Amino acid sequence: MNLPPNATPPPSAGLADTRTAPTPRALAVLMVEDSESDALLVLRALRRAGFALRHRRVEEAAEMRAALADETWNVVLSDFNLPGFDARSALAELHASGLDLPFIVVSGTIGDETAIELMRRGARDYLMKDNLARLAPAIERELGEACVRAERRRALAALHDSEAVLREAQRIGGVGQWRRDLPGGALWCSDTLFGLFGMAPVAGEDALDALLTRVHPDDLGRLLQAHRALAAGSERVELEYRIIHADGSLRYVLECAARSRGAETATPRLIGTVHDVTAQRAAAEALRTANARLRQMSLRVLDAQEAERRAVAYELHDQIGQALTAVKLDLQAMTPHLDAGPAVARLAAAIHTTEEALAQVRGLSLNLRPPQLDYMGLEASLRWHAERECARAGLVLDFAGGLGEFKAEERCAIVCFRLMQEALNNAVRHAGARRVRIALAVADGRLDMEIADDGRGFDLARARRRMLEGASVGLLGMEERAALIGGEVRIDAAPGAGTRIRVSLPCTAHITPA
Ligand SMILES: Nc1ncnc2c1ncn2[C@@H]1O[C@H](COP(=O)(O)OP(=O)(O)OP(=O)(O)O)[C@@H](O)[C@H]1O
Ligand SMILES: [Mg+2]
Repeated sequence: MNLPPNATPPPSAGLADTRTAPTPRALAVLMVEDSESDALLVLRALRRAGFALRHRRVEEAAEMRAALADETWNVVLSDFNLPGFDARSALAELHASGLDLPFIVVSGTIGDETAIELMRRGARDYLMKDNLARLAPAIERELGEACVRAERRRALAALHDSEAVLREAQRIGGVGQWRRDLPGGALWCSDTLFGLFGMAPVAGEDALDALLTRVHPDDLGRLLQAHRALAAGSERVELEYRIIHADGSLRYVLECAARSRGAETATPRLIGTVHDVTAQRAAAEALRTANARLRQMSLRVLDAQEAERRAVAYELHDQIGQALTAVKLDLQAMTPHLDAGPAVARLAAAIHTTEEALAQVRGLSLNLRPPQLDYMGLEASLRWHAERECARAGLVLDFAGGLGEFKAEERCAIVCFRLMQEALNNAVRHAGARRVRIALAVADGRLDMEIADDGRGFDLARARRRMLEGASVGLLGMEERAALIGGEVRIDAAPGAGTRIRVSLPCTAHITPA
């Protein structure tokens, strides 16, 4: 050892260093041997080679069977010929036990032919008793190989286990699988794939024909085209098609297929999964139908609500309004016939109260159903309403009409009017704005309306959360009303940045028959 000049030698330098002596390796040896002295020779050779031994010596089949069953061993060392037993029978016993133990023949007399025959039967090595030098290395080698074999067995078991889990998962999830190595390799299909089609598994290329005969004729072309695209280089295809199950029912399946590379072999391959989506489709269809029914009912409710509002509005305006007007006129007519005094003052107060009631009734009636909607165009009604509300609230109105004489059909007009009513209402109540801008346009069968204010704006996400908790219904109602007739409402708002509401409604002009 070359130490640097000032280096301190390690504490054990100069003494026998027991720490570096190799730790004896444990070895359990089952010996098939009738001679005790030969056995001792073998054991001594192994101890010298550094093994810490546990051993048992057996001389006949029953003893060996019991030893194999009772204890675990690392190696079997067998003499060739014993009085009532021999290496061939010992090998047979070992095989019958199902254990994977290295079997080494250690014999005084054995010819080459016999040795070769024993190796064929499964012996791992043979050597002579008078030359035991090779025994320890042979055992070392065998232990190493046994380790590798055990590791491979464990890996194989894990692989089989995960394959079984995959198969079970596919069965539970109703997922079929297929695979084809490229170029033009054989087709493999999982049993679950045949199960989806209601068929017994079919091997090889016949599987493809068998499966394709179950595909609905109207969908077959699409399926074949998708597979051709995949074979020609597409990375992934996904399509839904119908199959006719063996029980005669029509099923919907979703197939997803893609190119893939096997991890070890790097062989390009196509892999596909097929999933029965009949139940999902049926659920989606039921949801669609329920939504359509709900939409129809909501429309009818809205129509009924509007009809009711119109009736109440006319009732208020025509009946109560006219009655109040008549009362007011009568009261005014009485005034000249009264002497001055408290009666005149009370009459004046009564006239004033009647005028206020009249104004309220008119206001109520207008809010319920502006009559302009029935005899003026939509734009004129919207303008009239916006001017009235902005004037009341002291807001500057910038109204850019673009509809002209366009008369929208009833539902579209009323939805548009109600949306503007709510948007303006919000601007007046919440925005603290100075200006409101309204723009209208009609193009391509759609009516577009924009209502923007320069007020304080708001946090839309927060407002939505509150709406869903039931705190308010205004914006939600706008979206619902628009959606009911196939329109949409987009809201742009942020704290400090004003609010802009854009509405787009499908709308055909209403042609009044001549
Ligand atoms: N133009 C606006 N400017 C500022 N904040 C607004 C504006 N429009 C709506 N908001 C905010 O969004 C919230 C939700 O509006 P929404 O119209 O749904 O409810 P609401 O007006 O409070 O009650 P209602 O159910 O009577 O309409 C309002 O409470 C308000 O905070
Ligand atoms: Mg509101």
